[in-house]
Amino acid sequence: MKKLLIKNIKGLVQVGENIPKVIKGLEMRNVPILENAFLALEDGEVVAYGLMEDWEGIDDWRDLEIIDASGKYVLPAFCDSHTHVVFAKSREEEFVDRINGLSYEEIALKGGGILNSARRLNEMSETELFEQAKVRIEKMKSYGTGAIEIKSGYGLSVEGELKMLRVIQRLKEECDITIKATFLGAHAFPKEFKENHRGYIGLIINEMLPQIAAEKLADYIDVFCERNYFSVEEMEEILLAGAKYGLIPKVHVNQFSILGGVKKAIELGALSVDHLEEIDEQDIAALKNSECMPTILPSCSHFISIPFGNARLMMENGLPVALASDFNPGTTPTGNLGVVWSLACAKMKMTPEEALNALTVNAAYSMGLSETHGKIALGRKSPILITKEIPSLAYIPYAFGDQHIEQIIV
Ligand code: NIG
Ligand code: FE
Repeated sequence: MKKLLIKNIKGLVQVGENIPKVIKGLEMRNVPILENAFLALEDGEVVAYGLMEDWEGIDDWRDLEIIDASGKYVLPAFCDSHTHVVFAKSREEEFVDRINGLSYEEIALKGGGILNSARRLNEMSETELFEQAKVRIEKMKSYGTGAIEIKSGYGLSVEGELKMLRVIQRLKEECDITIKATFLGAHAFPKEFKENHRGYIGLIINEMLPQIAAEKLADYIDVFCERNYFSVEEMEEILLAGAKYGLIPKVHVNQFSILGGVKKAIELGALSVDHLEEIDEQDIAALKNSECMPTILPSCSHFISIPFGNARLMMENGLPVALASDFNPGTTPTGNLGVVWSLACAKMKMTPEEALNALTVNAAYSMGLSETHGKIALGRKSPILITKEIPSLAYIPYAFGDQHIEQIIV
């Protein structure tokens, strides 16, 4: 048995036996922290923690590793519940187009955006896609991410979508952190189906879904519900088809416009509704009566210059909030959740504690990992982070752009 003792921890964060599965509203302001603490793990499982003054010493030193965490914080690894890390190529030329005045929507309308990535992905081999995604995931881990949801959606053809999902399957098998797969065939209409929505939706429902289900390639199903993409009715049809195979919805809604997708997705049992840069009273009301996690993606807002989600309004209404990276080549070319933490504080006025709850407990919920991730508690084997020596927890989002994570233990 491999034993690990982390001692003299400046702050052991998000620790305890009574932390709820979802942290809502005003409760989000609180994060339990033990100061000057220890944490003991056996084969990665938490077997004891407490204050240093209550530590009873060691009677069995065999196979024991000790880490002295003086001046450092220990916290549960972040969960990234919304990413597109399997992609073929970066899209900095669109970034330059935006600097020169085009909007994300205008670039997409002239064949850039998601269709640009789909073209590249269909030209690339499964092996190369896998190798590239693996490198991205290692980098994300170094920034503190301990679980990742990954979407398809750059295939937009039967072969392309299956290829992406098989890559994600292989990442699940070969990465040492938990990965969840989401089928996002309804990310955009491919060029040949631009005027034939029925044709593409037929392909999703009759060709893609049965094969994905047969090979057990997806945990969730997603639709980009947005003007010029999928309407609320189209989303409903696709989500209902996914439900026949047990796929739970996690959807892209309200990024640019409010179409009524939030309410509809909740009716259809969505675990999370993601983006929400735009939101209205009906959306808030629908969320209030649900178990659906509103998930905000501040690095996307930052990068393509659209409004930041109104997390304060959600929390004032007693709602929980989760944060995720949205790592993708178009709207968020980084999976650094430290950056997300900073943006949430500086731009969305979330306190460091609120944002941390959104990156841990609530993010774990929104990817179905409440039982294993997002907090430190007895009997759990969740990945944990050790920071560098830092003056306070708030220093992490404050000193943005710096690497504050010294080590992730998975
Ligand atoms: O979440 N909005 C839809 N999907 C992605 C962007 C995809 C892309 O531009 O490649 C997002 O922002
Ligand atoms: Fe996304």
